[in-house]
This record gives sequence, structure tokens and C-alpha cells, in this order.
Amino acid sequence: MRKPLIAANWKMNTTPSEAVDLVKQMLPALDAVSGVETLICPPFISLVAVSELLRQSRVMLGAQNAYYEEKGAFTGEVSPLMLSGLCRYVILGHSERRSLFGESSQVVNKKVKAAIKSGLKPILCVGESLTDNDGGRTESVVTAQLKESLDGILEAVGLVIAYEPVWSIGTGRAASGTQANSTIKMIRDVLATLIGWQTADATRILYGGSVNAANIAEFIEQPEIDGALVGGASLKAAEFVSIVKQAASIKGCN
Ligand code: PGA
Repeated sequence: MRKPLIAANWKMNTTPSEAVDLVKQMLPALDAVSGVETLICPPFISLVAVSELLRQSRVMLGAQNAYYEEKGAFTGEVSPLMLSGLCRYVILGHSERRSLFGESSQVVNKKVKAAIKSGLKPILCVGESLTDNDGGRTESVVTAQLKESLDGILEAVGLVIAYEPVWSIGTGRAASGTQANSTIKMIRDVLATLIGWQTADATRILYGGSVNAANIAEFIEQPEIDGALVGGASLKAAEFVSIVKQAASIKGCN
């Protein structure tokens, strides 16, 4: 059984005090939900403050990025080693990092390896652009991203994949449940060739892209979809709580 994971990606939103306020608004309701894992990924500078709030909580903490070196002269970067005392998860290879900051799958591969080495669970993001989708290249693009990002990784216990079609992120234009389910099934098949059937079968694959309280059910009902990576809707306490509750009531397991 793959326990569903609902992850909040706050991106570059919230000051430290706003992050603390938002967590305080959500936490009692989130803590009352069992059967799904809930994860909050605030900006780096709020990780310490949010980790204090989550100390007695079942809600977990993740980072939105990390560099691949452990330490050294890399001004402005944060290493997986630094995060490992604070966080359980780290989002890597998000399409905004790939497109706005030029991160290639080769760089993402180094980051995934470094995260695993430091004991963090990577949430590896993959997804095709609108042009690739329209051109029928979803499978080849996503397969290449997976192969390159996971190159040389044989031990992938704890790995999470997030399938986020670029055209659906922040656009209000989510994929349909069946569309996302069939691409995620394809992703699991590719994973099986890379890390073996058993690990692929145990790996949670999330859908991300314009998920909200009105459409989460459509995704979580699908057999291959093990949760969601939620951007905009995770910045609204009541909406994020509703997403987590719906996921738990549809697919919660312990
Ligand atoms: P969105 O973002 O929910 O705002 O579309 C999802 C993501 O980028 O992880």
C-alpha cells in the first residue's frame, strides 16, 4: 500500500512571520487527519521557524530545492546536509527551476544523489511543456527526464516523483484525472526499468498542476495517483486542509 502524500509547495511566497501564521492556521486541522502524509515546503528562510511549530505534529517539513555539494564556496546555495537536520523531504527539478534557472536533468541528477546521501527524500519533478504535449511527445520527454535525473541511482527507497505538466502549473488548467493517471502509469513502468519493479511499485507518484479543493478528488481517485503537489491552493489554509481531508477520506491508509 502506498500511503498518499499531499505536499504544499509555497514557492517564493510568505515572509517568515506569514509562514508561521499560515502554519498555525492549518495545523490543528491537519493534525486531526490520519491516513495520508502531509508535507509543507516553505521558503528556506522559514524552515527553522516552521520546524519548531511542527515538532509535535504529524505534518512533515520539506525544502523546495538544494544544491548538490555538501559545503564550500557556493554563495547563496543550501546543501542537503544543512537541510537534513530540519527536513524530511526536498523538492528537486521543479519545472520553474528547470525553465527559469536553467537546471538540466544532469544537474537534477547530482542533486537527487546528494539528497539521498544526506538522508533526504527527494520529490523529483518531471513534466512536459505545452508544445511537447500538443506534439504528442509527453512520453518521450518525461522518459528522458526520468532516465537522466535518475542516472546511476540504484537505491531509491523513499524517492517520490511528481508529475507536473508544465502547461498546468499555476494556470488553472489542470490535466484530467484519467490523463494524469495514464502518464503516471507510464512513469511507473519507466521507473521499473530503472530501479526495479519492487521499488517502482512502492514509489509514490504525485500529480501537480492547478490542484485545488474542487478537483483533488478527481486525481486521488485514480489508481496510479498517490497524492498531489499543490502550489497556489496550499497558500490558503482552509483550501489546503480541505484537499488533505478529501485525500484521506478517499484513499487514506495507515
Ligand atoms: P500550482 O503549482 O498548484 O500553483 O499549479 C504546482 C507546483 O508548481 O508544484
